[in-house]
Amino acid sequence: MKIDILTVVPDLLESPFSHSILKRAREKGLLTINVYNLRKWAINKHMQVDDYQFGGGAGMVMMPEPLANAIDELQQAGKYDEIIFLTPDGATFNQKTANILSMKENLLLICGHYKGIDERIRQQYVTKEISIGDYVLSGGELAAAVVVDAIGRLLPGVLNDETSALFDSFQDNLLAPPVYTRPADFRGSKVPEILIQGDPKKVAEWRHEQSVQRTQDRRPDLLEGQE
Ligand code: ADE
Repeated sequence: MKIDILTVVPDLLESPFSHSILKRAREKGLLTINVYNLRKWAINKHMQVDDYQFGGGAGMVMMPEPLANAIDELQQAGKYDEIIFLTPDGATFNQKTANILSMKENLLLICGHYKGIDERIRQQYVTKEISIGDYVLSGGELAAAVVVDAIGRLLPGVLNDETSALFDSFQDNLLAPPVYTRPADFRGSKVPEILIQGDPKKVAEWRHEQSVQRTQDRRPDLLEGQE
């Protein structure tokens, strides 16, 4: 999979993809991430990519030309499956969207700044708008990092134990069960006996019960509308 990212703050995206699982995915050639500085497509020698908004009001808006020129040029290497704009008024990101996006080949993520991007780019280019939650970030970069991380770890061959993503929280609309490691007795608090015994069938049943219980207690909304 290839993910291109357009941003005015490329430095913000240097570290998130250079460690741990995503680093390994890139090294294995399973994931290519290209971060492009939008200022490369600035309209003048002042590197301008934003301007005042029509109608007045505080805050700058990212201009349509740099974005359109960037997308047109980048898309010459291959049409994007999705052009995604990270924005607080997008659809809230969740595991289902991560699963769907992980099956695509070629994605473009656009990070907004200031008051956002000119509406015509949203109408003419953007195919999906994603928010990572009901709060406003100072730009789309951290949201892009979240989306890339959630997608990247799902790519086949990225996780060491291929099955482990299947048991993540939210797959099956259930939260993950509690996990324990050594010591079996931590300051008097003991690991449940069933895990110590290690009978795979009983462990699986226990984990499922715990998942359902945890979901009922913490996120009953996830259980609503389940068939
Ligand atoms: N840009 C600013 N806030 C955001 C959010 N909550 N999600 C995605 N992109 C954003």
